[in-house]
Amino acid sequence: MTAFWAWFVAAGTVIFVIYCIWLITWSAKQGPTNKEDADLVGHKWDGDLEELNNPAPKWWLYLYFGTIVWALGYLVFYPGIGIFEGTLGWSKYGQYEEEMQAAADRYEPIYARFAEMDFDVLAQDPDAQQLGKSLFASYCTTCHGSDARGAAGYPNLTDNDWIWGDTEAAITTTIRQGRNSIMPSLAAALGGDAGVDNMVNYVRSLSGLVEADNAAMTAQPMFVALCSACHMPDGTGNQVLGGLNLTDDTWLYGSSEDAVRSTIVNGRNGVMPAHGDLLGDKKTKILAAYISSLSAAQ
Ligand code: HEC
Ligand code: HEC
Repeated sequence: MTAFWAWFVAAGTVIFVIYCIWLITWSAKQGPTNKEDADLVGHKWDGDLEELNNPAPKWWLYLYFGTIVWALGYLVFYPGIGIFEGTLGWSKYGQYEEEMQAAADRYEPIYARFAEMDFDVLAQDPDAQQLGKSLFASYCTTCHGSDARGAAGYPNLTDNDWIWGDTEAAITTTIRQGRNSIMPSLAAALGGDAGVDNMVNYVRSLSGLVEADNAAMTAQPMFVALCSACHMPDGTGNQVLGGLNLTDDTWLYGSSEDAVRSTIVNGRNGVMPAHGDLLGDKKTKILAAYISSLSAAQ
C-alpha cells in the first residue's frame, strides 16, 4: 500500500468511528424523555398499528457503545489503521507460519518414522498407505485423478504398466525430478499422408487392434528406422527414455486411429512436474511407496 492510501484508509477509519460516536450521542438526545409526550412518526400498519418516536432503550445504547469500544481496542491491538501494525504484532503471515510450524511439529515425527522404514515394508504398511493417500489427494489428484487412474495424457498409476519403471529408484526420481517426455512430430519423415496412414495401421497392429495389411507392413522398415531408437524395433518400448510400449493395450493418449495419427503427426510432450522441493525427501518416499502399493494391489 502506498503512503497516500495508507493515510487515506487510516483517516477514513478514524473519521467513521468518530461519526458513529457522534451519531449515537446525538440520537440518544432526540425524542421526548417521557412516554406521554412521545410523538407519532406517522407510519401506520394494519390500520391501527402506529410507531412512536421514543429514544432507543438504554441496553441498546450500551451495546452500541460496547461495539465502539471493541473497535477502538481492536484498532490498538491489531493492524487496522493504515500501516499501523497493532501492539500485539499479529499478522496473517505470522499466523500462517505458526500454523505451518505447528503442523510440522505434529507430523514430522510421523514422516520421520515412515521414512526410516524399508521401501517394501512401507508399501505394505496400512498407516503409511493412509498417509500416502492423503498426500496424493493434496498434491497429485489434479492430474492423476482422485482414484489415481489418470486420463488421456496423464498415466494411470494403478495398473502394472509403467512408462518410467516401477522400482523405488524410478518412482522416486519421477516424483522428485519430474519427467519431460518428447515424442517428436514425424509426419514429414514419413513422407506425407499415405506414409502416416500406413504407420498408424502398423502401430495399431502391434497391439492387435487391427490386422496389418500389405500397405501397413510397408511401414515396418520405417518403424525400425525412425521409431526404434525410443520404442525399440519390436515396439515394446524403452523405460529409460520413456518411449512407450506400443504392443500392449495400455494407451496414454488413446488407441483410436485419430489419437495415434495425432501423436505421430503433431508429436506429444507429457510433462510430470518436479515435486522434490515441494515435498522433501520423506514425503516423496511415502508417496513413492503408496504409488507402488496401488499397482501391487491389482
Ligand atoms: C501437472 C500434472 C501432474 C501432477 C500435479 C502430477 N503428475 Fe505425475 N505425471 C504427469 C504426467 C503428464 C505424467 C506422464 C509423463 C510422461 O508422459 O512421461 C506423469 C507421470 C507420473 C509417474 C510415472 C508413471 C509411469 O508409468 O512411469 C508417476 C509415478 C507420477 N506421475 C506420480 C505423481 C505423483 C506422486 C504426483 C504428486 C506428488 C504427481 N505425479 C503429480 C502429470 C502430473
Ligand atoms: C525420440 C524418441 C521417440 C521417437 C523417435 C518416436 N517416439 Fe513415439 N513416443 C516417444 C515418447 C517419449 C512418447 C511418450 C510421450 C509422452 O509421454 O507424452 C511416445 C509416444 C508415442 C505414442 C503414443 C502411445 C500412447 O500410449 O498413447 C505413439 C503411438 C508413438 N509414440 C508412435 C511413434 C512412432 C510411430 C514413431 C516413429 C514414426 C515414434 N513414436 C518415434 C518417443 C519417441
